[in-house]
Amino acid sequence: MSIKYTPNKHHVAQSFADAAQQYDDVAILQRQTADELLERLSFVTLQPNIILDLGAGTGRNLSLLAQHYPDAALIAVDIAPAMLKQAQRRYKQDLGLKRWLPGQHKVRFLAGDAESLPLADNSVDMIYANLSLQWCEPQKCFAEIQRVLRPGGLLSFTTLGPDTLHELRQSWAAVDDYPHVNIFYDMHDIGEAMMNSGLTEPVLDVERMTLTYDTAMALMKDLKELGAHNVNSGRRRGLTGKHALQKMIASYEQFRQQGVLPASYEVVYGHAWCSEPAQQQSSDGTIKVPVSQISRRSASE
Ligand SMILES: C[S@@+](CC[C@H](N)C(=O)[O-])C[C@H]1O[C@@H](n2cnc3c(N)ncnc32)[C@H](O)[C@@H]1O
Repeated sequence: MSIKYTPNKHHVAQSFADAAQQYDDVAILQRQTADELLERLSFVTLQPNIILDLGAGTGRNLSLLAQHYPDAALIAVDIAPAMLKQAQRRYKQDLGLKRWLPGQHKVRFLAGDAESLPLADNSVDMIYANLSLQWCEPQKCFAEIQRVLRPGGLLSFTTLGPDTLHELRQSWAAVDDYPHVNIFYDMHDIGEAMMNSGLTEPVLDVERMTLTYDTAMALMKDLKELGAHNVNSGRRRGLTGKHALQKMIASYEQFRQQGVLPASYEVVYGHAWCSEPAQQQSSDGTIKVPVSQISRRSASE
């Protein structure tokens, strides 16, 4: 797989921290994909004891996961501590007075990076990740997911494919050669990274969605409020000039249809299972083979 996108962690965390207050007002697509992902989970028979909401954001999905899986303990991980603070507040609010009843869910909120999770090996039964993995290098985050999932555990996620915001990308291309829009991995790369990390039976499919805006500036404003800034390491330093912005806005007009401007999203839905570790290589280079897999060779072999 060719590495196309090296996210700058500091920029990602900062953009989402800045967005924490207003994120919920503009997260329309995110709500839709989160609900669809939960809906898909109802077709899977799994009784998880511990669920990780990876890239939990403002925590909207925590109480929904709690309703779906009333017996499971929840962990929320996000790279932006300000998002987690918001999630903590929201979860308290969603639960209301019920939080004082015995047996109510206690959520562990942990700041951390999906590429280096602050969790022990084989420690969670299910990972739910709605629109967070597109900010990570697939190879790194899937390796971490495989590490923390228990054998037989499930990963269920959505991410974004390369057609996402293609109108905006094309409009900026009329201005200069800098990457103004995040670059996203395609389904093939995602599937390959999942397989390489040891996840099994990966299933991926794509749904195309279009949001519409009156102006290109309204779209830019939404992206900013979502924290979905361009964080590619090759991005243009400093502020984009007024003239460049006007040129991009003019170029975006070529897409106007029935009075509105489209913003396309390629949403990738995926799930996979954590494999039984056939052979695990430890950091000192030794290979550990589970006792169950050691068999005696017979004399005739
Ligand atoms: C678009 S929001 C989605 C939030 C939430 N899952 C939802 O459905 O509303 C993406 C979230 O992923 C988090 N994030 C981005 N990169 C991350 C990383 N490497 N590790 C953990 N969280 C990350 C961001 O801070 C942000 O809260």
